[in-house]
Amino acid sequence: MMMRIIGTGSCLPLSVVTNDDLSKIMDTSDEWISSRTGIKERRLAKEETTASMAAEASQRALKNAGIGVEDIDLIIVGTITGDYVTPSTSCEVQAKLGAASAVAFDINAACSGFMFALHTAYVYLQSGIYKTALVVGAETLSKIMDWNDRSTCVLFGDGAGAAVVRAYTDEESGEHEIGRSGARGLLAFSQGSDGAKGSVLACRDRVNNNPLIQNPFEMGYVSMDGQEVYKFAVSTVPSSIIKVLETSQLKTEDIKYFVLHQANIRIIQSVAKRLKVSEDKFPLSLDHCGNISAASVPILLDEMNQKGMLSPGDKIVMSGFGAGLTWGTAVIEW
Ligand code: ACO
Repeated sequence: MMMRIIGTGSCLPLSVVTNDDLSKIMDTSDEWISSRTGIKERRLAKEETTASMAAEASQRALKNAGIGVEDIDLIIVGTITGDYVTPSTSCEVQAKLGAASAVAFDINAACSGFMFALHTAYVYLQSGIYKTALVVGAETLSKIMDWNDRSTCVLFGDGAGAAVVRAYTDEESGEHEIGRSGARGLLAFSQGSDGAKGSVLACRDRVNNNPLIQNPFEMGYVSMDGQEVYKFAVSTVPSSIIKVLETSQLKTEDIKYFVLHQANIRIIQSVAKRLKVSEDKFPLSLDHCGNISAASVPILLDEMNQKGMLSPGDKIVMSGFGAGLTWGTAVIEW
């Protein structure tokens, strides 16, 4: 069985908010934000919703793949900012696309959400249960930011990215040589969770107010211990990359691009340094997108695809990491 990403798409909100725009409404500056994070601007949703951006990105991915909605068996959306607690964003996407024959569910793994969704899809595809999956990362993070907290709100943005993943038998693909892992397309995957460190990056949901208990109403906003997140990322991401390279018997020189979650330029630079890989192999979208949690990796992948940076046979590492804490890293063959 061979599994391949056959199409990508993305959708960003129309409204651009630059660092200079933010400096007019809070005590911050382009110099502070861009020197510490690499972020110059982000898109913030006005009319757009998590599901509307997810559906638009999905439609573009289907068009790029050249397949119709009737071909989709499975829709998995990684998100922590759905429009409803229920129905899931994936069910909303299913309805918007008219993908009546698909099974749809969400995954909550924050910035690892797309990678966890991708791995889940691959497992379904490899088992032969489904043939074609739509894997999406979509977020409206601006609604869970405390816009009075300059230490967090300047870091994040809104948007969605999608990938169509399809399973092929060797006969269908014309390939008769199975890859090292026996699963062409996804060569290796490593994921993990550390719930004991959950408070490092958190956002509380609504509190309980029922006939038995009354709590003061509090809106949940993102809180972050930036330095702890930094330490987690720069140690866990390189080790998970080394692990997937070892599993797939590849070296860093075999990898064309390292597509990392776009949290912060300093994290990416540190990962590159620890792996002794040129920063040129780490494409970026954080300068114009900021951190879009589960949507970061698929948006960047789509931008690379649209620019013609990806060729069949290229080996690409993708890695998501963030709240939970969670991390998911894969080596894929394009
Ligand atoms: N503008 C101006 N000043 C600010 C801002 C701002 N937006 N935010 C904080 N400051 C001030 C603080 O008040 C503090 O001032 P003080 O020294 O007078 O008290 C000073 O800047 C330093 O604040 P720190 O929080 O210590 O800033 P730090 O240098 O650690 O940088 C950052 C913060 C960029 C978040 C850093 O911790 C980091 O890189 N963390 C990595 C984690 C990360 O990027 N998270 C993103 C999301 S998580 C994820 O996706 C996995």
